[in-house]
Amino acid sequence: MNEQVKVTDTATAKAVPTLPDAQTVTEVKHWTDRLFSFRVTRPQSLRFRSGEFVMIGLMGDNGRPLLRAYSIASPSWDEELEFYSIKVQDGPLTSRLQHIQPGDEIILRPKPVGTLVHDALLPGKRIWFFATGTGFAPFASLLRDPQTYEDYDEVIVTHTCRDVAELEYSRQLIENIRSDELLGELIGEDNLKKLRYYPTTTREQSAKMGRITTLLSDGTLFKDLGIERMAPETDRAMVCGSLGLNNDLKEILEGFGLREGANSDPAEYVVEKAFVG
Ligand code: A2P
Repeated sequence: MNEQVKVTDTATAKAVPTLPDAQTVTEVKHWTDRLFSFRVTRPQSLRFRSGEFVMIGLMGDNGRPLLRAYSIASPSWDEELEFYSIKVQDGPLTSRLQHIQPGDEIILRPKPVGTLVHDALLPGKRIWFFATGTGFAPFASLLRDPQTYEDYDEVIVTHTCRDVAELEYSRQLIENIRSDELLGELIGEDNLKKLRYYPTTTREQSAKMGRITTLLSDGTLFKDLGIERMAPETDRAMVCGSLGLNNDLKEILEGFGLREGANSDPAEYVVEKAFVG
């Protein structure tokens, strides 16, 4: 009897070829017509540091995997993996990836890497997470990592998007962190002060408008938060957005005296490009 079951299983496995490094989609959420997030099963052996990315994708029409770098948005303690993605209608991968449904399979190469990790920064008092668009993804992981609140007195996260609807993912995440039993306790009673969220829009009217680069260089950001300007002795920063944003912010941060760090040579700030396309 057992023997017979085995034979049937083998036959089925052969009939339905599974993808290499396949993971199963467990949840998909569409935030706007340009943004969606999804969750997949986590390979049992996968260990990663908050802020790292992996290569994920689908099998291409030519039978070769079509893979792109995606930051893991979920914290390392989560039993599943979460990703936050743009939908590009003529993008080779996201034009197809945006249609995934629970139960579908994606390819995930379980080799996490990246520079937006605590190890690439020297100890400091205040940490800044600067994100635009889907560049928020690595911070969704770091913001749910207890180490972030253990290592720093103050955590300031800025998120700039074109319109208000595009801020909803980060807004809900911050709200959930504040009300989370464990993280909420770590952040402390005055959790509006230890974890500060600064959302801005550039193309739709909202409570705070403007590119973060402008708000940072003209001092508006510090005035709004009621704090001293950034200094290399106290401040650490992580940046994730488009190439243009990353370059502009690098220059501004260097102007404050911060130096770029790396895993092998920690310093005051680190940068990574958000996935686009
Ligand atoms: P803007 O609307 O002025 O281009 P996108 O959706 O195109 O990825 O952009 C996300 C956000 O990043 C937008 O609000 C956009 O502002 C902003 N942004 C794009 N490039 C830069 C840059 N070089 N410096 C500052 N902000 C930028």
